Amino acid sequence: MTFEYRQNAPVIFGAGAISALGGRVKALGCKKALCVYDAGGEASGGVAKAIGSLEAAGIACVRFGGVRPDAPMETIDEGGELGLREKVDCIVGIGGGSSLDSAKAIAILMTHPGPIKRYVLARPIAVKTEVPVVCVATTAGTGSEVTHVAIVNRTDVNAKWSVFVTPTLAVVDPELTLTLPKRETANTGLDALSHAAESITCTASSPHSDLLALAAIRKIFDNLYTCWSEPGNLAARTEMALASNWAGIAFDEAMCHVGHSLADALSSAFHTPHGYNCAIALPEALAAAAPAAPDKLRLIAEAMRLPLKGGESGEELAAAVAGGIRGLMRSMEVKSLREQGFDRSRVLACAGEVAENHLSSYCPVKITPQVAETLLARMYDNY
Ligand SMILES: [Fe+2]
Repeated sequence: MTFEYRQNAPVIFGAGAISALGGRVKALGCKKALCVYDAGGEASGGVAKAIGSLEAAGIACVRFGGVRPDAPMETIDEGGELGLREKVDCIVGIGGGSSLDSAKAIAILMTHPGPIKRYVLARPIAVKTEVPVVCVATTAGTGSEVTHVAIVNRTDVNAKWSVFVTPTLAVVDPELTLTLPKRETANTGLDALSHAAESITCTASSPHSDLLALAAIRKIFDNLYTCWSEPGNLAARTEMALASNWAGIAFDEAMCHVGHSLADALSSAFHTPHGYNCAIALPEALAAAAPAAPDKLRLIAEAMRLPLKGGESGEELAAAVAGGIRGLMRSMEVKSLREQGFDRSRVLACAGEVAENHLSSYCPVKITPQVAETLLARMYDNY
């Protein structure tokens, strides 16, 4: 077995880490930054702190705010036009996954002709960018600050696709997550859990990605509920910020699989938050993988600190893991698809899209449209 491990971007981590941003961007030789952010980034205080640090270091800032969840291609084109017009030499994303992914995608347009649609039409495309991209995370879930993937929402076909852009530098300051609302805390934390657990059961996992993902799972089960119930608990927020970051590095190496295919399909059909979709899908994604990866299910169950007797089958382990995940979801008042009023037949109609999603190919069992329909039905019925 051969495998490759790396870390895409240096990470500055810790309470107050945001104050280092300006000096680090200056050290990159940059003079003018396009700051790409969302309402959550502003509410966290991260935007004001980031711009304050940049300006104190003599970096001029051009603001591009108002990035919405699942940012459409048009937003990225607008940001690209602004960046070119203003002749910026650095992109700084501040916020959750949509802002960080938008920042990464906008970087493409600084040196490659737009619109961004050219790069997401048929399949994920790797593009070499030359303008530094610095990612400041204000949620603990996406991991986008350390992944080389940017999700682009293809409004032309109502689907998500990826472009590959590697961040230059990541800043993870858990103080910026202290005011994250309860629902976003749950959704983003469960996204991180999905990254970790799916990466472990992917065909492309390695000892390095497993190490990070298992540590992330332990931290998530030890701290996510505390973050939800005591939002101002900096110690728990710090552990979750680390977990999210490590899960990001893990899935960047190992990929995610059918859980994220299921989540993407739900996002297209119902426009529900990514982390919520991932959480609903995760138990069934792991159950699908269990027959081919029982040893990995055991590692996940151990990281969740589930009581095990030894000798359990993959299916038994998957059932225990599913119970643990759903218990965590219930404790944070995460609603089911049924409770949200979604029609079961509309959920099942996502099967074709799930099977076609390239991420499904990383599941250790083949995801046919029939298998996908079964997983969607279980997602609807089992939670
Ligand atoms: Fe995700």
